[in-house]
Amino acid sequence: MALKADARIVIVGCGIAGIAAAHRLHKAGFHHVRILEATERSGGRIKTGRLGNTMIEIGAAYIHGPSEKNPVFCLARDYNLLEPKTLTPENQAVNVGEYPPLVPNWFSSSGQKLSAESMEPALELFHELIENTPSSKNHKQRSWPSVGDFIRSEVRRRAAKRWNEKDKNTRKLLLGAIDTMLKEECCASATHSMDTLDLVGFSMYENIEGVDCTFPRGFEGLINSLMSELPPDIVTYNRPVRCVHWNNTKGGGNPVMIECENKEIIAADHVIVTVSLGCLKKHHSTLFSPPLPSQKLLSISKLGFGTCDKIHVEFESPWWDAECEIIYLLWEDEEKVSDEMKDISKHWIRKVSSFNVLKHSESSSHVLCGWISGYEAEYMETLPEEEIKRSITELIHTFTGDHTITPRRVECTQWFHDPWTLGSYSHPAIGCSLQDLKNLMEPLPKRGTQPQVLFAGEATHPCYYSTVHGALLTGWREADRLISHYYSCSPFSSDETRQE
Ligand SMILES: Cc1cc2nc3c(=O)[nH]c(=O)nc-3n(C[C@H](O)[C@H](O)[C@H](O)COP(=O)(O)OP(=O)(O)OC[C@H]3O[C@@H](n4cnc5c(N)ncnc54)[C@H](O)[C@@H]3O)c2cc1C
Ligand SMILES: *[C@@H]1O[C@H](CO)[C@@H](O)[C@H](O)[C@H]1NC(C)=O
Repeated sequence: MALKADARIVIVGCGIAGIAAAHRLHKAGFHHVRILEATERSGGRIKTGRLGNTMIEIGAAYIHGPSEKNPVFCLARDYNLLEPKTLTPENQAVNVGEYPPLVPNWFSSSGQKLSAESMEPALELFHELIENTPSSKNHKQRSWPSVGDFIRSEVRRRAAKRWNEKDKNTRKLLLGAIDTMLKEECCASATHSMDTLDLVGFSMYENIEGVDCTFPRGFEGLINSLMSELPPDIVTYNRPVRCVHWNNTKGGGNPVMIECENKEIIAADHVIVTVSLGCLKKHHSTLFSPPLPSQKLLSISKLGFGTCDKIHVEFESPWWDAECEIIYLLWEDEEKVSDEMKDISKHWIRKVSSFNVLKHSESSSHVLCGWISGYEAEYMETLPEEEIKRSITELIHTFTGDHTITPRRVECTQWFHDPWTLGSYSHPAIGCSLQDLKNLMEPLPKRGTQPQVLFAGEATHPCYYSTVHGALLTGWREADRLISHYYSCSPFSSDETRQE
């Protein structure tokens, strides 16, 4: 008879999913919980840094949908980590479709500033399409296997009708702006091209109400707040796990043995694996013994995991309008509506299509956050910082026509080359369905009396994958799975219920 508090639970990975699981188990009275973390820090893909005087987010920056339904919002509010404006009911009630759009500045590759008003029809059309992708297959839609195909064919069809009054040059610019938006959307999905996203799978993702907000003192504040409520020795850092030995029938009481890189072996009743989908893709064959069931492996290979990187650039003074919140770059020479690049080593910089203007109190520095995704991002990660700075400077000179603008500092993220993440976040690649996410989250053994290996992490959430709130919820979900396992099978707790 195992009392619940005595169960030995090991959590692999100290990102938000692992921390959330530990937090909930700890609160429920489990006192043999250990987190093994490969790196020297907690937070994983939540990582706050600095560029000069400015705080920057190397990983997650936004609470997507800050309102009651979002557990990250609720925690952040309770820990006092948000700005008063974010907490207003009005801010929470706004639908994603009706977001007040960010104030844009548009620049074209011929060095002209375009009026935001003239580009609005492109933004409007793009959002209309991306927010209304078909959520089920029907006859007509069978000819659009990917989100990219759908957008392109619909843009062609609708632009011919809607924009036929406009002159040739304006039409060309509007189509160029769609290109810009496609590239930006690639970053949102951490994919190389919108052509790799499953059209029906794309609508599995669910938005939450509320206007996206940031943490004024950094996203890592959430990690620190949660960690401060856990025993300090719960995490062992610099302790990469090499292999999870499960289904152990020998030796009676140790269903799971966790073998670390340093050869240490830890016996446990349960292990919650929270490593990224990128790590599962690359390391599953060595990370699990016996190997994962074929159904889970198939879903791991089908689900997409790609790269989205940020390029933070600091300037002495702004070259954008005072009220500008986002800068869009429009290439006039990219004829076909596409987001893919030929000859990446020469043209990778063309994948950078937008910069967010970071708001901050210090006025001595002005920082932009540029976005880049896919193979171009992965290539950029291999370049020396000086070369990236040179390319960014050239890019800005081309688009502004002002050759005196010089960035002070440039810093790029390297999520693809981070050996403990191997990319940024997951997406529904072509051929993926909800079943793949279900297969991924299913505990092992499949027909066992007790779950031995449990799966949490961003990529295991059925509708909030790729986000912090998705990751957090999966940590709670797997903790709850264990809690209810012990409540429903412990004679002690069932006695208690009977007395009530
Ligand atoms: C550039 C970027 C921007 C983003 N922006 C946003 C945003 O604005 N809003 C949002 O909601 N989300 C955003 N995300 C996504 C969000 O950061 C993630 O979905 C979330 O943080 C994932 O948490 P996790 O716990 O699932 O995984 P992780 O944070 O990756 O945690 C997994 C942990 O496991 C460890 N690990 C890996 N292998 C091993 C091993 N073998 N042994 C031991 N430990 C191991 C890793 O070191 C890591 O600490 C962004 C991500 C990136 C990369
Ligand atoms: C788990 O162990 C049982 C009993 O030894 C065995 O029948 C089963 O095939 C094992 N499962 C796997 C996936 O190895």
